[in-house]
Amino acid sequence: MSTAGIVPEGRESPAVVEFRNVTKTFGEGPGAFTAIRDVNFAVEDRPGHGEFIAILGPSGCGKSTVLRLIAGLTPQHPPTRGSVLVDGSPVSGPGPDRGMVFQDYTSFDHRTVLHNVAFGLECLGIGARQREERAKHWVERVGLSVAEDADKYPHQLSGGMRQRVAIARTLILKPRIILMDEPFGALDPSTRMRMQDLLVELWRSQEATVFFVTHSIEEAVFLGDRIYVLSSSPGTILREIDVPPPDRPAKEMQQEPRFLEYVFDIRDTIETLEASTRAGDD
Ligand SMILES: Nc1ncnc2c1ncn2[C@@H]1O[C@H](COP(=O)(O)OP(=O)(O)O)[C@@H](O)[C@H]1O
Ligand SMILES: [Mg+2]
Repeated sequence: MSTAGIVPEGRESPAVVEFRNVTKTFGEGPGAFTAIRDVNFAVEDRPGHGEFIAILGPSGCGKSTVLRLIAGLTPQHPPTRGSVLVDGSPVSGPGPDRGMVFQDYTSFDHRTVLHNVAFGLECLGIGARQREERAKHWVERVGLSVAEDADKYPHQLSGGMRQRVAIARTLILKPRIILMDEPFGALDPSTRMRMQDLLVELWRSQEATVFFVTHSIEEAVFLGDRIYVLSSSPGTILREIDVPPPDRPAKEMQQEPRFLEYVFDIRDTIETLEASTRAGDD
């Protein structure tokens, strides 16, 4: 009998995303490599207000593996052991309830900004007129101009503008879960802060649960409601840290002593945790 969808006692609805003892090993035999081991977490459903989870960890620790397992993308999906559940059911592949934004600007080179943004609607079979109307709305929502930018091709755009297109292309489909894999990692610091402010604004109106992978402690503290700190490989969640939500523009908030205290504390925590996991390896 399948237990999918059964809600444990005391819980009103299943977690939006839950990992139960998830391990992912790539390959078999002597060349096998375990990217994440026994990852456990649950992000509860908070109606009308999704949670913003920032994932921090050293390079190669399995952050992308975690996101791609939620997205149902191969070869990370399916897990080697354990279960990845969305709304209480095991993930069986990609779905419109989950949208992904990658670091490398993944627009279609031969499509204009407008047609890139409309792409998902086209896949859903929505008619040309309605598609265009909604895509124009989203071009403006992400701070681009319909008059100036809609007919441009990706190679005519800066990195920040391309990421705006990628965000519009994902959010236009109103996914309940937004997966972002170091989306601002290649942007200069001031563009990055503007994109962080844009994301906060868009997320508030979208009511989605966000998983946001980043190398930047500042970015995680600014954007996150909660931070998951992953160990070096095989990755496992070492700690969950609650942080205050962003209530002012990035540039302002990230200079405040209280904000910097959080950043220094988390940096200390990560250094201590990494030192103790290394010591535990022997
Ligand atoms: N398809 C794959 N085959 C073999 N190893 C992989 C594959 N994908 C990722 N890995 C390895 O798994 C580890 C975790 O990868 P990844 O999740 O991309 O890390 P992160 O995003 O934290 O940098 C890395 O050591 C990476 O080389
Ligand atoms: Mg990665």
